[in-house]
Amino acid sequence: MAKPLYNIAEPERTTASAGNKIVHAFGALADLGAEVANRGNFQDTIRTSLHLLLGSLGIMRGGVARYSPYDGEIVFSAVRGLGDEFPLSIPLARDDERLMLECGTAALEVLDARDLPIISRFGWILEAKSIEIIVPLVVHGELLGMLVVGEKASGSAYTTHDKDVICAMGRHIGVAISQRNLLTELERRADENQKLYERMRTTYNDTVKAFAAAIDSKDKYTEGHSTRVGKYTEIIARELGWPEHEIEGASVAGYLHDVGKLTVDRRIINAPYKIDAKESKELNRHPSVGYDILHPIHHPYADVPLAAKYHHERLDGRGYPDGLRDREIPYIAKIVNLADSFDAMTTDRPYKRRRPVQDVIEDLQKNSGTQFAPEITSALLRGLLRETTGETKDRRFRRLLGREYMEAEALPELLSSALNKIGSTRSIVITA
Ligand SMILES: [Fe+2]
Ligand SMILES: [Fe+2]
Repeated sequence: MAKPLYNIAEPERTTASAGNKIVHAFGALADLGAEVANRGNFQDTIRTSLHLLLGSLGIMRGGVARYSPYDGEIVFSAVRGLGDEFPLSIPLARDDERLMLECGTAALEVLDARDLPIISRFGWILEAKSIEIIVPLVVHGELLGMLVVGEKASGSAYTTHDKDVICAMGRHIGVAISQRNLLTELERRADENQKLYERMRTTYNDTVKAFAAAIDSKDKYTEGHSTRVGKYTEIIARELGWPEHEIEGASVAGYLHDVGKLTVDRRIINAPYKIDAKESKELNRHPSVGYDILHPIHHPYADVPLAAKYHHERLDGRGYPDGLRDREIPYIAKIVNLADSFDAMTTDRPYKRRRPVQDVIEDLQKNSGTQFAPEITSALLRGLLRETTGETKDRRFRRLLGREYMEAEALPELLSSALNKIGSTRSIVITA
């Protein structure tokens, strides 16, 4: 540039009145610092900052604008005394941005700053409002906005001291804008991350359901078994008061509990006869195979592989593959075990019609403490009872079991009685 955009005047002599002005300016700066540190409403912060600045120097009018590089314009966030006709947004050329960055946060006199494209194009608007000084708000080499101030109420010219105060206050306002931009960016990224997480979660859950459908497609007699076990597991976890993300994880464990069956011969799974010992051994490999399939995957809910491995264990140690007892069995595996057995009892199998609901309830109650964990059986029956009595408007069991089951005679009484009996049942004592 041929000439500097602003004039640097000679330092003034400090007089008593200049001393008062300094004290006053420091006071205003302190107030402005407190305002900028305030985490309240950003718009109020900018408005108050402008008023503090104008008030401390006795300036009639002015405004604070934020720069949006994306839109290529400055937009006024706060104005005072500029009238309704003053434009609230003004396009800013790239050259304006470059030149203002070169100047930094300095007080530019409008009359001396005609090198700026914005002044050559819109100077008349500023002059019409007697805007005398503009201050680019630059923080860490970034143009964040612009401060404009009109003439002083006293009619006197701006001194170097006045300009220093305006620049100091401009830096404070720039910091406030910078903080706000940072916060907005953080919020945007957090929002983006949340959306990304939701998409990944949906993809994971959809994949789990697709796997469950693939597992179930191998077994023509138990169509939908894995899906139902996933849903029963979810209901039980909810009844047990688990937090939402663990309920979702538990349902995944239910959906995938039989994933090991994908490697079992289809003829064994669909055998229209009672399978022999060799075939049974082959089928009983599925929990361990399931664990091997699921273990290398990073699941949001870490116990998913354990549910696959131990869902055929029993509290009394008569289950498989490891014959674990009570507390040795992972809790999620106990839930899936009950959901699995409940579905087996309540659906038709090749050689067995599904059992009447009265039998199922009696079976669950009888085997609580030996096969099933009593508090888990109670959770399942409690959920069933709450739906039967209309305490909950959910129709989860009705959708899974059908009307016939849910409207069985004296079902609420049966469930209450079973719950009372299970309440007094304790898990077996391990003596081995
Ligand atoms: Fe299984
Ligand atoms: Fe199963």
